[in-house]
Amino acid sequence: MITLATPAAMQQWARSQHASGRRIAFVPTMGALHEGHLHLMQTARSYADVVVASIFVNPLQFNSREDFDTYPRPMDEDLALCDRVQVDAVYAPTAAAMYPVGFETHVDPGSLAVPMEGAMRPGHFRGVTTVVAKLFGAVRPDVALFGQKDFQQLAVIRRMAIDLDMGIDIISVPTVREPDGLALSSRNRRLSLEDRRASVAVPDALRSAVEALATGETNAQALERTALRVLAGEPLGRVEYVRVFDAATLEPIPVIDREAVIAAAVWFSDVRIIDNMLLHPATDTTASTGM
Ligand code: PAJ
Repeated sequence: MITLATPAAMQQWARSQHASGRRIAFVPTMGALHEGHLHLMQTARSYADVVVASIFVNPLQFNSREDFDTYPRPMDEDLALCDRVQVDAVYAPTAAAMYPVGFETHVDPGSLAVPMEGAMRPGHFRGVTTVVAKLFGAVRPDVALFGQKDFQQLAVIRRMAIDLDMGIDIISVPTVREPDGLALSSRNRRLSLEDRRASVAVPDALRSAVEALATGETNAQALERTALRVLAGEPLGRVEYVRVFDAATLEPIPVIDREAVIAAAVWFSDVRIIDNMLLHPATDTTASTGM
């Protein structure tokens, strides 16, 4: 496994791979790697000949200096984990290499970046699209993989890749969870034991909505209320939002008559947990009765 620290070194390596006819799959991360990240890297292998992972804690996408400063950075462990899952190259640039003096160009996402995480975290997605565009420019991937865990991020990046003619396939990978259902996240390690136990209310709440849909409740507000009732039963959680929306446009919908998502953001002490689950519309059996 090779480690590259500057855009120029990364580009040179990528060019030599392409020159040898190899396809590059790319998994961008902010490090503090867990099984969710590693699953993305292992899945990446099936899409290309070589796998590149990046580790860069991007200052542009943080809303508070404190969250940025306290974000875990176990670089040596991370490199060992990348090596274990047979990543070919790790791109780990410094902030100075990414944002040298004079840097001033940003990628401005559109309406997909407005609700939910966009509303709660002003400028967050502009920081994400800008850094991902830069990472794509250095890594030159054919395909890039992102977790469904950050559903809105995935939608925003997919749109960017299309709108800016990047020619990169954006692949969505299902969320990896703890045995009790909590979605793996680098921030989970900051949860106290008590908050960790309480945080299972988030997947429980989302699953209760998925189950209500399966038993015939198609009203979006009723599904949100179902999830909110479960969260109300956990006094350690402070709900920021629970939202049902169209999976393609991210706009609210009244009933689940197309692919939809239920997403939640909940605080446990000073740790913010986000999660989501897909809501599949009931398949219309009457349409196929003539077959
Ligand atoms: P980070 O939070 O490190 O996540 C890196 C990738 O791992 C993202 O695509 C994220 O959706 C995915 N991921 C996180 N938890 C997961 C889980 N439990 N199961 C499956 N995939 C999971 O997202 C970012 O970094 C940054 O915003 C980044 C895209 C790197 C830009 O800075």
